[in-house]
Amino acid sequence: MNNNPDLLSVQDIKIEIKTKKGPVYPVRGLSFSLKRGQSLCIVGESGCGKSVTALSVLGLLPKSTFRLIHGKILFDGTDLVKLPENMMRDIRGRRISMVFQDPMTALNPVFSIGEQIREAIVAHGDTHPMTGKTTGTPGLKEWIVELLGLVGIPEPDRRYYSYPHELSGGLRQRAMMAMALACGPDILIADEPTTALDVTIQAQILNLIRQLKQKSGLGLVLITHNLGVVAQIAEKVLVMYAGKAVEEAPVDELFEAPFHPYTKGLMESVPYGLPLGTKRLRSIKGNVPPLDAIPSGCAFQSRCTQSMEICQRKDPPLSSLSPTRKVACHLYTDCAWKKGGARPTVGKP
Ligand SMILES: Nc1ncnc2c1ncn2[C@@H]1O[C@H](COP(=O)(O)OP(=O)(O)OP(=O)(O)O)[C@@H](O)[C@H]1O
Ligand SMILES: [Mg+2]
Repeated sequence: MNNNPDLLSVQDIKIEIKTKKGPVYPVRGLSFSLKRGQSLCIVGESGCGKSVTALSVLGLLPKSTFRLIHGKILFDGTDLVKLPENMMRDIRGRRISMVFQDPMTALNPVFSIGEQIREAIVAHGDTHPMTGKTTGTPGLKEWIVELLGLVGIPEPDRRYYSYPHELSGGLRQRAMMAMALACGPDILIADEPTTALDVTIQAQILNLIRQLKQKSGLGLVLITHNLGVVAQIAEKVLVMYAGKAVEEAPVDELFEAPFHPYTKGLMESVPYGLPLGTKRLRSIKGNVPPLDAIPSGCAFQSRCTQSMEICQRKDPPLSSLSPTRKVACHLYTDCAWKKGGARPTVGKP
């Protein structure tokens, strides 16, 4: 019996955007899952559909433009796609919460951070994020101060009364994290939470996320284009390209032996784990195709150094190479092996 079932299971979602020139598809059949307490990093270049995916899980894509046209988003067994908005509101924040790249989009400039967190808690109930205990409203301020301290805000009793503009970028990011954690969610979705911050603060925020995860058993979906961040935080990695998953692997296996040419390219473009200057930075030639010009066949073909004839004709499905590894690339399908391609080695040689 599987005693740690998936808490979140995104199944073959396709998202459509209405544009004047007709529909385009930023997410084109994406699946991934997360177990309780697990951390998943979603990586990929700008425009590959990471934020659209995250927002779709929370039902936050504007309905005027976006439509989920296929797939399921199962959270604790419930399909969020079919959930009425009032029930979705209850899940958002209380069970699944999100932090954004720019904290000002999530924080309200006219309320102190303490008041905002209080509002969030009162709106959803008042379960302590770390202990799971319910504190009565009278103790709420002390509890929020404790939470601000927990996310590393110095002098939290004074900062309770600070307005967002009175805080540095790093402290604002922490305040947003406190707000996201206030109702003790099961899953935190963090969309590029550190890109706007300087390197030292980035490292502090990442440490904080790691500690909170260990302490509270929080599940984490971290979106980033930085493989250095992935190496520090992830257990599982999903590499996205043009709205699809091209590779999925446990973090150590991925760094040890990336399979997809795109993943290899990303790895070569980041000096992860190496002092700056010891490895020449390379970027992958070309760009992610625009949504209205995604080629048939493999979307990565025009940038791939190992592209074959079949790549123009057939989009490779994400297939399992081992119990832990999946890749969507014709180099690893039977037809390539039949033509004399090397069978991939999986994991450590
Ligand atoms: N409101 C919108 N209207 C039209 N196209 C959109 C809209 N929002 C996103 N897109 C398009 O959808 C695609 C995916 O966007 P998304 O924001 O998910 O990318 P991303 O992977 O998060 O990139 P980044 O790393 O830059 O944040 C992009 O091509 C983007 O231009
Ligand atoms: Mg984004």
